[in-house]
Amino acid sequence: MQIPRKVEHQQTDRGTIPVYATGVVDQPWDSYSATDHQVWSQLFARQREVLPGRACQEFIDSQNALHMSADAIPKFAELNPILRQATGWELVGVEGLLPEYTFFEHLANRRFPVTWWIRSPDQIDYISEPDLFHDLFGHVPLLMNPIFADYMEAYGRGAMKAHGIGEQALLNLTRLYWYTVEFGLIRTDAGLRIYGSGIVSSKGESIYSLESDAPNRLGFDLERIMRTMYRIDTFQQSYFVIDSFEQLFDATRPDFAPIYQRLAELEDFPARAVRADDTVFHEGTREGFATDADA
Ligand code: PHE
Ligand code: CO
Repeated sequence: MQIPRKVEHQQTDRGTIPVYATGVVDQPWDSYSATDHQVWSQLFARQREVLPGRACQEFIDSQNALHMSADAIPKFAELNPILRQATGWELVGVEGLLPEYTFFEHLANRRFPVTWWIRSPDQIDYISEPDLFHDLFGHVPLLMNPIFADYMEAYGRGAMKAHGIGEQALLNLTRLYWYTVEFGLIRTDAGLRIYGSGIVSSKGESIYSLESDAPNRLGFDLERIMRTMYRIDTFQQSYFVIDSFEQLFDATRPDFAPIYQRLAELEDFPARAVRADDTVFHEGTREGFATDADA
């Protein structure tokens, strides 16, 4: 595999984050090594085993429809015609995390940036920044779903607007992304299921988020989420449960500007807290669940 271009590190209030070149790049598919493909196959097989009965049907159906190759890293150019035809979205290759505004502009134009490089074998269970497996396996499938696809575009436009309003507004909206797109749970007739990309791309968190007694599973509430802090370096302490993607999209239709203004006067909630008016889901543990990281 080639080396990602221009990696630097920047100290932020959420820790040290890597900074990459921001342009769109062609996926350097020929440069992937046998080890890179092997890492993909291993992660792919493992998650495909973990997800039935845990991921929502929309996620599984969408992922099946993309026909991602199990034994080799998929080619973006082969996924794009399928995705474009389904919802008009397309993938673009990037070197890694993008500056916020650049990222939002891509979403607003129905382009999803996918990191082209994949983690190394010693990072199979945990990697602190998004790589190809997280982006492609975790985020791309739901872009095949018409409602979720529209939600993501609307989010991009809303985030460009929030960026213009100010830092607090953007923080409120970033929390919405975190607790839905990255770490969302959904209620189905069969029980709670996962759809957030940070969960579906992690074996440990796929199990923990549904089966551990440790985290809170709380009913979706837009303003509650916007006020809730989060951790990026460990499993989540609270998950928010939507009833449907329609509910999520409907709740985000109103103009957020007055909401940001109102929330600016109110205090934030710790990631761990349960509040009196929260709806709490007790999914119960399956026997023998271990609370420490990956099994
Ligand atoms: N309605 C939001 C606004 O006015 C935009 C938005 C849509 C945000 C969908 C997130 C998701 O800012
Ligand atoms: Co992500």
